[in-house]
Amino acid sequence: MSNDPQEPLLLDHEYDGIRELDNQLPRWWVWLFYITIIYSALYLVYYHVSHTGDLQAAEYASEMKAGEQIKSGAMGKFESAIATLQPSSDAVVLANGKQTYTKFCSPCHRADGGGLVGPNLTDDYWIHGNTYADSVKVIWDGVPAKGMITWKTVLKPEEIQAVSSYIYTLRGVKLAMPGKLPENQAPAKPAGPSAFE
Ligand code: HEC
Repeated sequence: MSNDPQEPLLLDHEYDGIRELDNQLPRWWVWLFYITIIYSALYLVYYHVSHTGDLQAAEYASEMKAGEQIKSGAMGKFESAIATLQPSSDAVVLANGKQTYTKFCSPCHRADGGGLVGPNLTDDYWIHGNTYADSVKVIWDGVPAKGMITWKTVLKPEEIQAVSSYIYTLRGVKLAMPGKLPENQAPAKPAGPSAFE
C-alpha cells in the first residue's frame, strides 16, 4: 500500500474482503459540480426570490393566452369571409373533407349523405339555404337546438372548408338507397316507391 498522494488511497475498513479506494475526483467533474451549485443559486434568485422569470403555471397560462389569440384571430378571419367562400375542387381537399365527413358527419347524415337524424344533403331541399356559404355557415355555427353540432369548436377552419366542399359534391348524387325525405314537404321528384313507406 502506498501513501503517495498521486496514488489512490486504500481506506482502512474492510467488509467481507471488500476494501474501498479513496480516489481523487477528476477536476473537470468537481468543476461541473460547483457549476451546478452556482446555477441552482442563480435559478433560485431568478425564479423564486426576484420573481423575474415565470414559473411553469404562469408560463403555461401566458402561452395558452397567446395561442387563444392566434386561434380567435384565425376564426374571426374565416367567419367574416364565409359569405365569399367558394367550394374547392382540389382532389386533396376533397379527400380530406370526405375523411372528416365519414368520421364526424356520417353518423347523422348517412355515409352517402342521404340523411338519418340529420337532413338529406343530396336533395334539392335545404332548411338553411342552398348556397355554398349557407352550408359553411350552418356547419360553422351548427343548430344546437335541433341536434346539429357547432363545428367551429371541433374542426379547424380549413377542415370546415374541406368538409363543406366535399358535401357540395354530394348534391344531386343519385343514391343507391333512397334518401331521407325533406321534413314537412312532399318530394318534388319521388326518390322511388320505397321512399313513401
Ligand atoms: C348529431 C347529429 C349530427 C351530426 C354529427 C352532424 N349533423 Fe349536420 N345536421 C344535423 C341536424 C339534426 C340538422 C338539421 C338542423 C335543423 O333542423 O335546423 C343538420 C343540418 C345540417 C346542414 C344543413 C342542412 C339544410 O338542410 O340546410 C348541413 C349542411 C350539415 N348538417 C352538415 C353537417 C356536416 C358537414 C357535419 C359533420 C362535420 C354534420 N352536419 C354533422 C345533425 C347532425
